[in-house]
Amino acid sequence: MVSALSAAVDGMAAYYARRAAEYERIYQRPERQAELRVIESALADAMAGRAVLEIACGTGWWTPHGARAAASWLATDLNPETMAVARTKPLPPCVDFALLDAYALEAAPALAGRRLDAAFAGCWWSHVPLQRLPAWLAQLHALLPAGARVVFVDNTYVPGRSTPIARVDDHGNGWQRRTLDDGSVHEVLKNHPTREQAVAMLGPRAVAPRWTAHEHFWVLDYGLA
Ligand SMILES: C[S@@+](CC[C@H](N)C(=O)[O-])C[C@H]1O[C@@H](n2cnc3c(N)ncnc32)[C@H](O)[C@@H]1O
Repeated sequence: MVSALSAAVDGMAAYYARRAAEYERIYQRPERQAELRVIESALADAMAGRAVLEIACGTGWWTPHGARAAASWLATDLNPETMAVARTKPLPPCVDFALLDAYALEAAPALAGRRLDAAFAGCWWSHVPLQRLPAWLAQLHALLPAGARVVFVDNTYVPGRSTPIARVDDHGNGWQRRTLDDGSVHEVLKNHPTREQAVAMLGPRAVAPRWTAHEHFWVLDYGLA
């Protein structure tokens, strides 16, 4: 029997495979441009000189920015459809790609023996079921040594602009109903944490968390002890 949790996770992956060609429209919205430039630049600075694992890179919006001054950058995603778009972009030579399930990091051949000292994920946190988030973060942190840096960028909920939350499940996860260009309708888990809610998830190794709230995005940047 398929659990509600695995159906949610699989449904999200299938939704993004189908959305790949139309996905980057969200980054073309005029009202987002100024803060995108600020976040792109801050991400490049945060990851400068680091060996970075990018989780759920999607179409690679953040990849060229984050990797600009990185030592190495492994961009990963479950879906070849989204990664195919990312691969068409002009990218710094330090960027490699690997198909990888973010829920199976420990077993991932692409990570075996790879030296990492940073991780980044854009618009991924919001899709991880709340009941799974602390364990997922612990799995990510286990790949990283003391002194590593972790950055998450994700969407702020903007009343009147963001897709409304249609329902909240028993775990407190928000669910949106989204329509793609082909008319298909998808129920997608999407959470919009406050600073306090996000920091409370990080676990014992996180140090000096910094939360930056922009109008359309938030950024959580922290170190690992
Ligand atoms: C909201 S998009 C984020 C894309 C990109 N990081 C960005 O910020 O624009 C979520 C991405 O998660 C990927 N994804 C879904 N399930 C995944 C999984 N189990 N492991 C890795 N990636 C997954 C989807 O293919 C999609 O590219």
